Amino acid sequence: MLEVKDLHAYYGKSHILNGVNFHLEEGEVVSLLGRNGVGRSTTVKSIMGEVPPQGSIRFRGKEIAGLPSHAIARRGLGYVPEDRDIFPTLTVRQNLELGIKNPRKPGKWKVQQMLDMFPNLARRADSPAGVLSGGEKQMLTMCRTLMGDPELMMIDEPTEGLAPLIVKQIGELISDIANAGVSILLVEQKLSIAMDISHRVLVMGHGQIVFEGTPEELRADDAIRKEWLEV
Ligand SMILES: Nc1ncnc2c1ncn2[C@@H]1O[C@H](COP(=O)(O)OP(=O)(O)OP(=O)(O)O)[C@@H](O)[C@H]1O
Ligand SMILES: [Mg+2]
Repeated sequence: MLEVKDLHAYYGKSHILNGVNFHLEEGEVVSLLGRNGVGRSTTVKSIMGEVPPQGSIRFRGKEIAGLPSHAIARRGLGYVPEDRDIFPTLTVRQNLELGIKNPRKPGKWKVQQMLDMFPNLARRADSPAGVLSGGEKQMLTMCRTLMGDPELMMIDEPTEGLAPLIVKQIGELISDIANAGVSILLVEQKLSIAMDISHRVLVMGHGQIVFEGTPEELRADDAIRKEWLEV
């Protein structure tokens, strides 16, 4: 479904991605792990066209490297950035409605269905989204992206700074999304939910993928974990 080959990216003169290679099959949940600053967010931003990519990015067999972000989104790629960028003065409901890509062609996810799934959001449906807690804002951002009916959703560090109970809920939400048929590329720093919900994990170091395998294989590989993950 997604095939990334020899992907390079730069910020000015700094060479951040140094030949990233990986693939993701339809229906898979794949986590991209690695320490702070190794280039995980840059990878998803390059795929999404927010950072200019060099190399090949194929989505459903078609090259998307070099397309503008809105065109990439229209092809079925959803992106949940790491900064939980809700519109604080709009209501929760209006935030969800903003995720709809084509109002004339209703997608498979409905605002009411999101509210039914998340009592926390339903309670605040008509309040400004700015009053939500960090975890609720994260859920709202993910639900808003779902409203655009993505076939593959890339979610950047959804659990950062959240309490363990909320982290567990976010993990469950991602599993629910995957069970509804959406493929997932999850960027994480913590191993916790990534190891629980992923079919495969990728570890990034120095702008390249340095490990690819199942969560069990990563759990068994002390050397990789020590060199590239443990702080
Ligand atoms: N807009 C930018 N301009 C210049 N350098 C940047 C920019 N964004 C990121 N970088 C640098 O690029 C490198 C990779 O950043 P990236 O955001 O991809 O890391 P990451 O793996 O997502 O880690 P984290 O989210 O923990 O920061 C880092 O050294 C970072 O300082
Ligand atoms: Mg990041």
